[in-house]
Parts: sequence; structure tokens; C-alpha cells
Amino acid sequence: MTPHDQQIAALLALLDQTLDSPATTHGLARTLRAAVKEIELHRHHRASVAALPDCVLKPGPTKVQIGGGGHRIDGFFNIDIVPPADLLWDVREGIPLADASTETLFSEHFLEHIDYPRSAKSYAREAHRVLAPGGQLITGVPDAAFVLNEYPAPPEQAAEMIERWYAKRQCRGDMNTYLDLINYVFRDQDDDPTYNPHYWAYDHEKLAQLFTEAGFRTVEPWTFDPTMANPKRQWASVYVVATK
Ligand SMILES: C[S@@+](CC[C@H](N)C(=O)[O-])C[C@H]1O[C@@H](n2cnc3c(N)ncnc32)[C@H](O)[C@@H]1O
Repeated sequence: MTPHDQQIAALLALLDQTLDSPATTHGLARTLRAAVKEIELHRHHRASVAALPDCVLKPGPTKVQIGGGGHRIDGFFNIDIVPPADLLWDVREGIPLADASTETLFSEHFLEHIDYPRSAKSYAREAHRVLAPGGQLITGVPDAAFVLNEYPAPPEQAAEMIERWYAKRQCRGDMNTYLDLINYVFRDQDDDPTYNPHYWAYDHEKLAQLFTEAGFRTVEPWTFDPTMANPKRQWASVYVVATK
């Protein structure tokens, strides 16, 4: 174990101990839980860096899904910060592929989970770096324009959207109005270990700006392909394809 890893282990033990204390207030506990979660991600990433010292996959896959969670796509290599994935990697630290080495990068409901501008812009630049000329970056995110355009919406519409997006969750008792729904799109649940908060909201214009700034030649609406993307994600999401 390196001295850094020892420090992290000691920090985690201290955080666990503090979280167990009845004297720890709600606000402090929220922050510490977020730190514990980040340490878990840090550990996954450090273990992969140790196994991949120059941070480049060799041979590099030509089709890569980023942040796919449990969603698999035939022929795609999966990079995610938590299992299951082919490689556990924190893409806020870069994409572990050689320059101009890959054809397609795909992600869906991932980009909004990394901080903007630092990590989102770094991801866009990294995607541009690893794609070969003509390579495509396909990105789908919750469409903030969709939810904002409907405001103010009648309660039935809010109920339908909540059902479509959050049917599996235990949060519906707290989502009573359309504005609660907008809050979820912009923040998601930040106090539930099962879910990751949203750090930034996107629409077509913002995606086009982000990827154009990173050097992509074109950014167009992507024709939804259910053999690649999850059909459950299509509704109220915006997808673009950025071409290098
Ligand atoms: C909301 S889930 C979406 C999963 C899947 N794409 C879907 O649509 O169901 C976000 C995914 O992004 C991954 N993720 C978040 N931050 C990441 C990071 N920094 N590096 C790699 N993956 C990350 C999460 O672990 C999670 O699997």
C-alpha cells in the first residue's frame, strides 16, 4: 500500500467513525457521506491506474461506452467508475485511450453526472483527442429544454413525467408539484446513496456549444438507435452526435 493509499484508508476509517456518532449533525453527515462515496470511486480508479501505468488501453477498443452502468451494447467496451464495467475508470481524470485510436464513443445519462465546467469540458476535449478523424461522439442527456418548456404544467402532466422517470424510486411522496420535477432534473437525489446528483443541465444548444468548443467539426441531432441506446431513456432526453 502506498503512503497515499494508507492516508485514504485512515481517512475512511475516521469518516465511518464520525458518521456513526450520534453527535454528528445532519448537515455534516450529508457532506461526509458524499466524501465516503467519492473515496470509493477514488479507490476503483487508483486500482485501475496501478494496473494500467501509462493510462492507455492496449490494444484500444474501437467502440466504447462511457458511464453505461448495467446497460451493455454489443461490440462496445464499457468504461465506468463503478462495476459492472470492463474497466473501472474515473473519466474526470481522462479517457485511457491513445490519441486518434477509436471510432465511436457513446454515453447516455452520464454527462450530467460530472461537474461543469472543469470535468465536462475536459471530457469533451478527451473525447476529441481519442477519436480518429471522422470518429463520432454520441451523447444523450435529460433534456432540460423539454422540462422547462412545459412549465407551468398541470398536475396530471407532472404525475405522468414522475411516473416515467422515477417509477422505481421511493421518492414520489416528496414530488408533489411540477417544480419538484424540475428540481429533480437539475439536481436529482443528492442524499440517497443509490443515485448520483446531476451537476449540470443540458439542452441541444449547450451540447453543441460544449463539443464545438472542444474541436468537433459538426454537432447534429442523433437519430435514436435502440440497438445502441436504451429505449427507456429516449423520452424527454436529447441526443447529439459530434463528429471529429
Ligand atoms: C445515471 S447512470 C446512467 C447509466 C446508463 N448509461 C443508463 O442510461 O442507464 C450514470 C453512470 O455514469 C457513471 N459515472 C458517473 N461519473 C463517472 C465518472 N467520473 N467516470 C466514469 N463513469 C461515471 C456512473 O457510475 C453511472 O453508471
